[in-house]
Amino acid sequence: MALKNFEGAVAVITGGASGIGLATAQALHARGAHVVLADINQQGLRQAEEQTRLRNPEAMGNISSIPTDVTNEQQVQALMQKATETFGRINLVVTCAGVGRGGPIDLFTSAEMQTMMNINFMGTYHCVQAALPTMRQQQSGHFVFLSSVAGKLGAPMLTGYCASKWAIRGFSIALRAELHGSGIGVTTVYPAWVDTPMIHQGEDATQLLNVQVLLTADQVATEILQAVTEDRRDLTLAPNPDIATILQIMKEDPDKAEQLSGEAFQQRLAKIAAQQRG
Ligand SMILES: NC(=O)c1ccc[n+]([C@@H]2O[C@H](COP(=O)([O-])OP(=O)(O)OC[C@H]3O[C@@H](n4cnc5c(N)ncnc54)[C@H](O)[C@@H]3O)[C@@H](O)[C@H]2O)c1
Repeated sequence: MALKNFEGAVAVITGGASGIGLATAQALHARGAHVVLADINQQGLRQAEEQTRLRNPEAMGNISSIPTDVTNEQQVQALMQKATETFGRINLVVTCAGVGRGGPIDLFTSAEMQTMMNINFMGTYHCVQAALPTMRQQQSGHFVFLSSVAGKLGAPMLTGYCASKWAIRGFSIALRAELHGSGIGVTTVYPAWVDTPMIHQGEDATQLLNVQVLLTADQVATEILQAVTEDRRDLTLAPNPDIATILQIMKEDPDKAEQLSGEAFQQRLAKIAAQQRG
């Protein structure tokens, strides 16, 4: 059963201090939802709570924030417990907590890979485990997971990120099938580049990864709310023609998609090397 109306709905948003999580929280609050922001960044959380309040001063919903590290199972359990105790229900969980580091596989350490999987994938899993008992009891609820187009493609220099985002995709496909008929929905979101602090992490990476930002966090938030009301399984947002094309090729001919990605990456490397030589 799709969540058609956000008025009075209780939404828990991880990664709520920044970017897509914050924009989604603000969009939900504007539509009358009670929002519980969760993030590891405590100062950011306080600012996010304040910004959300100021952005929609007329909105009726409650805003609260709970510092939470999504890699910590106990903290995520406590987060969902607090939301359930306070409001008596959880209607929506949006998992936006994530990190997006890249780099050559030769230098990508085991610790970095563990961190990536722990935050991006295990953090998502912890939220499901912790919120599911409340949703099962209600026989309703909806999960929104932030994957990425990197969860549908293989992007050079993003091996760890891709692995964590494909993990979310596989997890959500299996979960949706398992929850069939339960009244609990799952929407997985696959955006291309979005203008948030995550992608502004250094000039070198921007050039190597061919970052071309066309989406804003507010646009993604609007699309997420629409997708929830339609109980959509897949929300892919790829306005960039090159990404849209490679996604299509990946569907039809994965071998060709890999080859084209590899060739384009080699060309970028050669171009950067030529620029450096002057
Ligand atoms: N920005 C993009 O281009 C883009 C594209 C596709 C998918 N995504 C995904 O969207 C999600 C949101 O990203 P964003 O662009 O808004 O980035 P962002 O950096 O603006 O926000 C991510 C938030 O997650 C929080 N966080 C990090 N580790 C955490 C932890 N252990 N526990 C709790 N919170 C933690 C950060 O403090 C931050 O507030 C991520 O999963 C990201 O991978 C982003």
